[in-house]
Amino acid sequence: MVQQLNIGILGAGRVGTAVGRQAVRAGHTVRIATGKPAEQIKLLTEVIVPGAQAVNKEQLRGSDIIVVAVPLHKYRSIDTAVLAGHVVIDTMNYWAPVDGVMEEFESGRSTSEVIAGFLGDDVQLVKTLNHIGYGDLEVDSYPAGAPERRALAVASDHDDAKQLVAAFIDSLGYDAVDAGPLAAGRAFENGTEIFNGRHTAEQMQALLNECARVLAAV
Ligand SMILES: NC(=O)c1ccc[n+]([C@@H]2O[C@H](COP(=O)([O-])OP(=O)(O)OC[C@H]3O[C@@H](n4cnc5c(N)ncnc54)[C@H](OP(=O)(O)O)[C@@H]3O)[C@@H](O)[C@H]2O)c1
Repeated sequence: MVQQLNIGILGAGRVGTAVGRQAVRAGHTVRIATGKPAEQIKLLTEVIVPGAQAVNKEQLRGSDIIVVAVPLHKYRSIDTAVLAGHVVIDTMNYWAPVDGVMEEFESGRSTSEVIAGFLGDDVQLVKTLNHIGYGDLEVDSYPAGAPERRALAVASDHDDAKQLVAAFIDSLGYDAVDAGPLAAGRAFENGTEIFNGRHTAEQMQALLNECARVLAAV
C-alpha cells in the first residue's frame, strides 16, 4: 500500500509542476510554492496541477519531503530556513550553457554535494528525479512489477531519508535504485549514460556499479 505523504514542492516550473501532478495522482497531499506569494501561482497551480495547493514558501515547512525544482544558477536565492530540518529532494542539474559557468560546479564533485553544503547540516538531501525529463514523468510511469518499469537512481548521505524518498519514487511509478552516498550522484548527472537514457532497475544497477568501479580507479 502506498504511504500517503505530505509533499512540498519549491518551484512551479516544468519539473515542479510535473512532479506535483504525478504526486497528486499517487494520492499524496501536494503543496507548491515559489519565492513569490501564493496568490501569484494560485491559478497556474489550479490549472496545471489540479488537486495541489499553492502556498507561500514558509507553508512548505512540516512536509514529509520537500522537492526543490528551481534553476541551479538560482540556488543561492533559495530560502534555506524553509528547508531546514527536512528531507529534501534535489532535482537540479548544472548545464553551463543555461546556468552560466559556475566555478563551484566545475570541480568534479556532485552538484548535490555543493547544494548540501549550501543548505547546511540540518537538511537531509537526496538526489533524484534530475535524470528524467519533466515530460516523461507521467508517460514512463508503470505499476510495481511491470517488466518494462523504468528505474531512477537515488543518492544520499542519509539512509532513512533515502528510504523515504525511494518509497516516494516507487509511488510515482518507478523503481528506486540505491546509488550510495551523495557523491555517487555524479553517476547520473548531465552527460552521463544514466542521464541520457531509460533504464530498468537491473540496467541501472549495472551502470552504477560500472561508474563506481571507474571512479574508484581514478
Ligand atoms: N526540464 C527538465 O526536464 C528537467 C528534468 C529534471 C531536472 N531538471 C532540473 O530542474 C531544475 C528546474 O528546472 P525547470 O525546467 O523546472 O525550471 P523552470 O521551468 O524555469 O522553473 C523554475 C521555477 O523555480 C522558481 N524559482 C526560482 N527561484 C526560486 C527561489 N529562490 N525560490 C523558490 N522558487 C524559485 C521559479 O519561479 P519564478 O518564475 O517565480 O522565479 C519557477 O517556478 C533545473 O535545475 C533543471 O536542470 C530539469
